[in-house]
Amino acid sequence: MRRLSPETRPELTIDYEGHPVSAREGEPAACALLAAGETVFSRSIKYHRPRGPFCMAGSCSNCLVRIDGVPNRFACQTPVRHGMRIERQNAYPSVKVDVFSSIDWLFPKGMDHHSMFAGVPVAEKVMATVARHLSGLGLLPDAAPPLPRPPERISVDVAVVGAGAAGLAAAEVLAAGGVAPLVLEQEDCVGGRRVLDAPEDGSTAAPSSPAGVQLRLATSVLGLYDDELGRVLLAVQRDPEGARVLLIQARDVLFAVGGHASMVPFENNDIPGVFSGRAAADLLRRRRLLIGDAPALLGQGPQLTALARLFRAEGAAPRLVLHTGAGTGPEGTMQGVPVRAHGRTWVHGLAYRDAGRRERRVDCDAIVVSLPPTPAFELLRQAGVKISYRPELGTFAPEVQPEGRTAVAGIWAAGDVARPGSAAEAAGSGRRAAQGILAR
Ligand code: FES
Repeated sequence: MRRLSPETRPELTIDYEGHPVSAREGEPAACALLAAGETVFSRSIKYHRPRGPFCMAGSCSNCLVRIDGVPNRFACQTPVRHGMRIERQNAYPSVKVDVFSSIDWLFPKGMDHHSMFAGVPVAEKVMATVARHLSGLGLLPDAAPPLPRPPERISVDVAVVGAGAAGLAAAEVLAAGGVAPLVLEQEDCVGGRRVLDAPEDGSTAAPSSPAGVQLRLATSVLGLYDDELGRVLLAVQRDPEGARVLLIQARDVLFAVGGHASMVPFENNDIPGVFSGRAAADLLRRRRLLIGDAPALLGQGPQLTALARLFRAEGAAPRLVLHTGAGTGPEGTMQGVPVRAHGRTWVHGLAYRDAGRRERRVDCDAIVVSLPPTPAFELLRQAGVKISYRPELGTFAPEVQPEGRTAVAGIWAAGDVARPGSAAEAAGSGRRAAQGILAR
């Protein structure tokens, strides 16, 4: 793990478990801790296995820490500020040496506290007390949170959730059609995979927001609710003064929220040092942090070889590029399946089975899993859109017509959330959805 040049952002200091740690202005806390060599951020709640950042997108919960006395903050989503105080949680006496990890050793098949000692006098009570103390995430905050700022009410014709390839293409068509959409993006920049992932076409040009669009960055949509004025999109915008709730009424809502990082099954795939492809690319491109000089890359889809190119361009030498899909992979990849990650608090090797089903092993200093994302359909489901298993995708996905329409009036979907594909395909589906909305 090392920082890359050029490094132009001002340096500041944060406090991790009582020790000063150097950080760069604007980067997430997870980045600063990784750059400082901190590999284990937390422990899993039941087996106390070590956890480190995997997705860098606020969706895997591996990086939950206590920040400034508030538990369960996503270190990958919280920008540093000078003097910020970060503490680990769910581990004793520390995340590096956690006595509760012995549970994994004592109960290799899992500890079922619902039945263990049930009905045995005294032992039952002791077991219940122990289970109560071991369960739950973190401890209560040091102080009551500040009073929330008054919510802002917004009324628009069309809201677009997500400013990636699909959302930006849709916004452009809507704006050209005379409808100024409100675009909500949870990151602090637009572009989605074009900025955060390895560029499929090699282009590193940063996309911009189309003219005639109202853009709210650093804004996460939490849900859709009904209030006295009808259907309302509830979002939280983070700005320097703190978080503000937005209550948005829109005749049409287009969800272009993309997907979550996917994983393939192999032993030990949950240890620190295993990253999603997008996390590795984002750390490298936006944060100038190289997660390994000799990583093993595995997966399938257009991003896998792009990722290998990206690593090589920064001076790293991937030990292996393993194509895990059916058939022969793209040039420069090897066909096979991962078997196990080696390491305890950080990856140091990968065992895999090659096309001849022989087990082999490479030494590596990180494992990157690059797969098509799993549709992030939670908001669509809350809106009432049916979710079904799609054998051709091998996952659950919302039921969306080719032009982006769903069975729920005024709810549309485009891009990876509807069907994972390339950036060009996502942009095409965004444009079709926008044309459908304009034709209503
Ligand atoms: S939620 Fe922070 S790394 Fe996944």
